[in-house]
Amino acid sequence: MKATSASSDSPAVPPLRILAIPGDGIGREVVPAALAVLCATGLPIDLAHAEAGWECFQRHGASLPDETLAAAHAADAVLFGAVGSPSFPVPGYRSPIVALRRALDLYANIRPTTNDQRPTTDSPAESPFVVRPSSSVDLVVVRENTEGLYAGRERLEDGGDTAIAERVITRRASERIVRAAFELARARAQGLGTRDLGIGSQAGAQAPSPKPQAARVTIVHKANVLRETCGLFRTTALRVAEEYPDVAVDEQLVDSAALQLVQRPGRFDVIVTTNLFGDILSDVASFWGGGLGMASSANIGDGHALFEPVHGSAPDIAGKGIANPLAAIGCAAMLLEWSAERKAQSAAQRASLLAWAGRIRAAVRAVLAGDVRTPDLGGVATTEAVTQAVIAALSHKE
Ligand code: NAI
Ligand code: MG
Repeated sequence: MKATSASSDSPAVPPLRILAIPGDGIGREVVPAALAVLCATGLPIDLAHAEAGWECFQRHGASLPDETLAAAHAADAVLFGAVGSPSFPVPGYRSPIVALRRALDLYANIRPTTNDQRPTTDSPAESPFVVRPSSSVDLVVVRENTEGLYAGRERLEDGGDTAIAERVITRRASERIVRAAFELARARAQGLGTRDLGIGSQAGAQAPSPKPQAARVTIVHKANVLRETCGLFRTTALRVAEEYPDVAVDEQLVDSAALQLVQRPGRFDVIVTTNLFGDILSDVASFWGGGLGMASSANIGDGHALFEPVHGSAPDIAGKGIANPLAAIGCAAMLLEWSAERKAQSAAQRASLLAWAGRIRAAVRAVLAGDVRTPDLGGVATTEAVTQAVIAALSHKE
């Protein structure tokens, strides 16, 4: 584990302690890109690196070494890349990101999608015809992050002929994730805090939404079939909803919600759902923001936070230098926003962190308005070229 230090522009401001866990595949390409952007801000940052993932497991016999977990506990915030988990059982292997979310109690996975910065051209190879939503998309999937079908309770019976996964839903976890969703919807509608995270008491650093947004939470479940587990989630959610008379509430079955996300994405504001459903629906939603290469996410608990692109290790493009770094760079902006509200030790530090988050987002918008894009967005640029374009745009904003 290596500690380095970014440049400091004010000795009075305590440095932010960031732990970078690049992981596997393109995680090792997009996390350095996001760190380069963070370092270009000149913010005082204490940066440490730690290992996790499949290659880490192959080297050390642990996918999430104890020292990585300890470093994550000690950091103000974690920037995570992606890990490549095998799709077959490996004795002793566990998904490090699922383990980290549970160990740090990062119960809220916040996955925003907006099409206000979607590139105007699509890759001809990927998109023979251009699909456009009928209205603007500005939604957030709030996914429960600690239980559900990802609770890790799987076993084999009948000598291996039957495989069982237990789906764990608790009132406590359901209550806090639904409350997080309603708080976020309320904050977004009132223009409080940052639009993605909804924390903080003043207007955030991001540009205002092009459309005024009515607060709405859509509870997504499958309680007609999963009567006990989704039933408990649903009734808990509806009870919490009563505490928020200013926020509209509706509910949808997950299969119907998937179609609606494709057909009428503009109808959604905040979606709250269980772990696996949220994982799937957020990948669907990411399409409207330009795909996985553009989708950033936050994993938030009461004391810790970890920021990661929604995408995985992308073995098909890993090592080619063409991964889109903008999802990871968006994570850097979210990290600064969360740190401003939860970790800043002075008003000046808070203001500085928020201002730089806003500049990073503006720099990304400026780059997307030009033609320096990776192939997933229809361009020919490399990860490095896009990163340098963001850094150049960042200095124009100073
Ligand atoms: P993936 O997200 O890695 O890739 C899906 C597709 O999107 C691929 O065609 C890939 O090239 C493309 N893509 C993803 N990110 C991109 C980027 N930044 N720029 C350009 N193109 C991008 O999902 P996949 O292929 O299903 O999984 C690969 C591995 O990643 C698996 O081992 C899986 O377990 C792991 N994974 C890890 C996650 C995590 O660490 N949080 C999340 C999702 C998958
Ligand atoms: Mg996923």
